[in-house]
Amino acid sequence: MAKYQTVMLDGSELSVKKAAAFIRAGEVVGMPTETVYGLAADAFNENAVSKIFAAKERPADNPLIVHISDLSMITGIAAELPQIAVTCAKRFWPGPLTMVLPKTPNVPLITSGGLNTVGVRMPSHPVARALIDAAGVPLAAPSANLSGSPSPTCAAHVLKDMNGRIPAIIDGGECDAGVESTVICFEDDGVGDGAIKILRPGRITAQMLSEVTPDVRIDKGVLHAVENGAKVASPGMKYKHYAPKAKVTLVEGSARQFAIYVYKHAQPGTVCLVFRDTDIEGLDVPYIVIGDTPEEQAHRLFAALREADETGAAEVFARCPTTEGVGLAVYNRMIRAAAFRVVKP
Ligand code: TXA
Ligand code: MG
Repeated sequence: MAKYQTVMLDGSELSVKKAAAFIRAGEVVGMPTETVYGLAADAFNENAVSKIFAAKERPADNPLIVHISDLSMITGIAAELPQIAVTCAKRFWPGPLTMVLPKTPNVPLITSGGLNTVGVRMPSHPVARALIDAAGVPLAAPSANLSGSPSPTCAAHVLKDMNGRIPAIIDGGECDAGVESTVICFEDDGVGDGAIKILRPGRITAQMLSEVTPDVRIDKGVLHAVENGAKVASPGMKYKHYAPKAKVTLVEGSARQFAIYVYKHAQPGTVCLVFRDTDIEGLDVPYIVIGDTPEEQAHRLFAALREADETGAAEVFARCPTTEGVGLAVYNRMIRAAAFRVVKP
């Protein structure tokens, strides 16, 4: 892989122009979005996209999301746009929603991970939108972490994983959502109307999507581990994800039950991930607070997993989030970080 002197750019117009020049030259740039940082390259340029896979060490069958800044760009990317997709686009774009649609031949198979569908999203982050506009092409962009690591929610996280692997990162501050976009596909519900299936939960919740259709389904891979060799609706479900170096265990139940579990099982090197300071009141165990509401938890989760690693933690005990609303996205990331280890005290 090429070795780069990675430069950190600010979000100014001049910086966006510099970053766009890298993209037009077939290079990869770290890009802020409202969800997490992405590693962006020209979605139509096979060689550029191959550099994304190399920088991330990502398996070739895991497809990338293609980012657009204007609805008119979608015609070159998606071969069909069902009415329900148009409705979703009108309601949720720009924003953290990715729609899986049949792809046009313009989209190289390397971008779609060999599939004949493609995930498309229009981000709302002004720097991401400016970069797409300045580059003049749709941008393929996975999360900017090394494959398997927690997604980056600030430019420093991107630098940590990508230093020397890409030429530039645009620092657009902390990401707002903190979890990646909601990924959906459309299914025939048998009576001719479209149903929405959630492949990866995010800030756009099932409740919000049910304003478009009453038939919102949640793929079983969202809440459960997929068996080895099983056919999956979204290749990302197969892979180990968001995993810090520490062994993570989710503990179901109340703050009190959590505190008792920690009291019984904590060892030197255990760090707790809690909702609020009082979760382990009275215990002398280091802890990281991720917040009370699902929105706060989503915003803080990946940074907290990285912080746990920085403390050198061997083990993390984490409170188990709710699966309501944005909580489903938090739970989905946390059970993967925990390799599906959930205990019920
Ligand atoms: O918020 C986000 O979506 C961020 C920012 C940078 O936009 N991007 C992101 O990309 O999270 P990535 O590559 O880390 O995750 C994309 C997910 C993967 O789980 C992948 O398998 C799924 O979307 N995906 C992409 N294209 C798909 C397709 N054609 N069919 C099914 N799943 C797809
Ligand atoms: Mg990712």
